[in-house]
Amino acid sequence: PVLVVDFGAQYAQLIARRVREAGVYSEIVPHTITAAEVAEKQPAGIVLSGGPSSVYEPGSPTLDPGILQLGVPVMGICYGFQVMAQQLGGEVARTGRREYGATAMTVHGDGGALLAGQPESQTTWMSHGDSVARAPEGFAVLASTADTPVAAFASDEMKMYGVQWHPEVKHSEYGQRVLENFLHRAAGIPADWNSGNVIAEQVARIREQVGSARVICGLSGGVDSAVAAAIVHEAVGDQLVCVFVDHGLLRADERRQVEEDYVAATGIRLVTVDAREQFLTALAGVTDPETKRKIIGREFIRTFEQAAVDLVAEAAHDGGAIEFLVQGTLYPDIVESGGGSGTATIKSHHNVGGLPDDLQFALVEPLRTLFKDEVRAIGRELGLPEPIVARQPFPGPGLGIRIIGEVTQERLDLLREADAIVRAELTAAGLDAEIWQCPVVLLADVRSVGVQGDGRTYGHPIVLRPVSSEDAMTADWTRLPYDVLARISNRITNEVAGVNRVVLDVTSKPPGTIEWE
Ligand code: XMP
Repeated sequence: PVLVVDFGAQYAQLIARRVREAGVYSEIVPHTITAAEVAEKQPAGIVLSGGPSSVYEPGSPTLDPGILQLGVPVMGICYGFQVMAQQLGGEVARTGRREYGATAMTVHGDGGALLAGQPESQTTWMSHGDSVARAPEGFAVLASTADTPVAAFASDEMKMYGVQWHPEVKHSEYGQRVLENFLHRAAGIPADWNSGNVIAEQVARIREQVGSARVICGLSGGVDSAVAAAIVHEAVGDQLVCVFVDHGLLRADERRQVEEDYVAATGIRLVTVDAREQFLTALAGVTDPETKRKIIGREFIRTFEQAAVDLVAEAAHDGGAIEFLVQGTLYPDIVESGGGSGTATIKSHHNVGGLPDDLQFALVEPLRTLFKDEVRAIGRELGLPEPIVARQPFPGPGLGIRIIGEVTQERLDLLREADAIVRAELTAAGLDAEIWQCPVVLLADVRSVGVQGDGRTYGHPIVLRPVSSEDAMTADWTRLPYDVLARISNRITNEVAGVNRVVLDVTSKPPGTIEWE
């Protein structure tokens, strides 16, 4: 792999993704990793990420100097560039000047292996205080900006490279090219990592892990569990049984997509548990958001648990115990919880949130090295239906937390109808890629006066909450075209009985969350 050393900023994941986009498998490692640990992983290259503003700050993250002596090609970015400069005998100056945002940069000469074939003037995205004042002995300076004389350096002999700007950020015009030049030209790493290889590798691994035992998987209708189950099915066929809980809080067509389209595409054995009554009863009279969430979570676990108990009993009856549980855990979850490798057998308890103590499963997590966009690519490669693969995030508690007020059957039906219109219109307008997700919210406890035909109406508002985001941690409201908004508003007020007003949420996150509850 290529190791991306994380200096604690938010950039490491982005770098790891960009490296993979260049067709090279990457893993994120903490900056505390030792040279011996790095050597053990036999990396083909190392990228040092950005990080805090100054190498002089007390407690700022450091790097085991032995790592730069391993003979592995290294590229430093921003803070990583400065750490390299410092360790290799260059000089980092506390200039007191900050360069931030889009910055004009000049490439020197032919730009060397890193900047070859790029225009002399280009825009790069910078975010730094200190600067490299002098490159280490034997290094060539490849570029500069008005405030930064050494914006990039290289030693082809040592296979060491560095840039002050952030090539992983899209605002850096030739950023991806810089990463590719480092990986393919300078370090000589071939671009041979793709969905096909990942599937083949995972299938082999799952077969080895599972053997002839049986496997269970909870399907939510979302991308992750759908793709995870599909890979496991590819590996062990009917040793896998999937459980899908219909809690009645799903959107229009979701159950059918899973039961018909997904099953048709994969041939997976599926058990649907119809728990609609149970959830409605449990939610009756409840308006507090946190209470709703707790009830939905609790009922969900109960339902899945019972289905698992039944299936385990059934399997034991005909002689093949269920020993494994599939989880759609993704790479960011692993990185964020501080984990890297390991986790052989964990009590599923901690991950599913409450299977009974006497039910112990070993986990199968075929997506634990992957990012979301890679999971989607694999889903497509496996032939999963596009509506499932392309699905935008949808919260576990479903429409239950998009009805402000008590959840009733009538309100669910109304919201489902409005939501289906919004999704259809956004898709028809080609806006899905621009939008992270667009919750549609029913203000069930609010009524306002309207006029329709010759009569007065007293109906409920529907809120549109289109947001753009990279990771849902922060978000901005999406500037949807007025004509699309107009069409959605017209259709909802005409087609959905009980709704006489459509309003647009223009709040970023923070301060608003994406969901309303
Ligand atoms: P908020 O509302 O916190 O949402 O800005 C951030 C993202 O998380 C989704 N979300 C959930 N997903 N279970 C989930 O699986 C939940 O309980 C849940 N609550 C919010 C939300 O849709 C958004 O993508």
